[in-house]
Amino acid sequence: MAMVSPSLLSADFGNLQRDVEMLNQSECDWFHLDVMDGVFVPNISFGFPVMQAMAQHAQKPLDVHLMIVQPEKFVKEVKALGAKVMNVHYEACTHLHRVVQQIKAEGMMAGVTLNPHTPVSVLEEILPDLDLVMLMSVNPGFGGQRFIEHSLDKTKRLRDLVERTGSKALIEIDGGVNRETGKLLVEAGADVLVAGSAVFGAKDPAEEIKFLRSL
Ligand code: DX5
Ligand code: ZN
Repeated sequence: MAMVSPSLLSADFGNLQRDVEMLNQSECDWFHLDVMDGVFVPNISFGFPVMQAMAQHAQKPLDVHLMIVQPEKFVKEVKALGAKVMNVHYEACTHLHRVVQQIKAEGMMAGVTLNPHTPVSVLEEILPDLDLVMLMSVNPGFGGQRFIEHSLDKTKRLRDLVERTGSKALIEIDGGVNRETGKLLVEAGADVLVAGSAVFGAKDPAEEIKFLRSL
């Protein structure tokens, strides 16, 4: 059984409330919100006013993924949304340990995300402090990209490292997740699957979520 966190990046922004309500009625576990700043990644998505609007209607915990430089500036804003998970990129944080402590001090789950080229070994010292590690299985910035194959082995390596360090961190995977890659990822040790285009591009998004959850 995997947890599923559908990415609202693939929602219809002209009908955001409708899509949020659809997810409320579905079996999804979290709402995955992708924030992009045009600096850390080559795209801009949405920011706090839009997320506040979504949070107002959302009936599931928010899983906020910050693809921005200096994410430590926004810990309080993310907390004010009522977010459950705050994901920051390893590559965006010079003082990662401090940011993680700040997130936890606000009562949120601290998640650290790795780009495809960043080895899981960089987290060895900090893993016991983390509530979640997210692996990017595409280069961040866009929905609908192709799954990077080596993410499967990387997931296994992360699972081993989590066990070895006695960490309680959940393993979340983001990018190119569909029925096929989702199954392989869960076998490799993933706990949470993010899915954007697979869910919102499906004929029946609720059914797609149900399927991914059953993996
Ligand atoms: C990519 C985002 C993802 C994206 C996933 O930068 O972090 O969350 O929405 O989209 P799919 O599932 O279509 O790859
Ligand atoms: Zn994401």
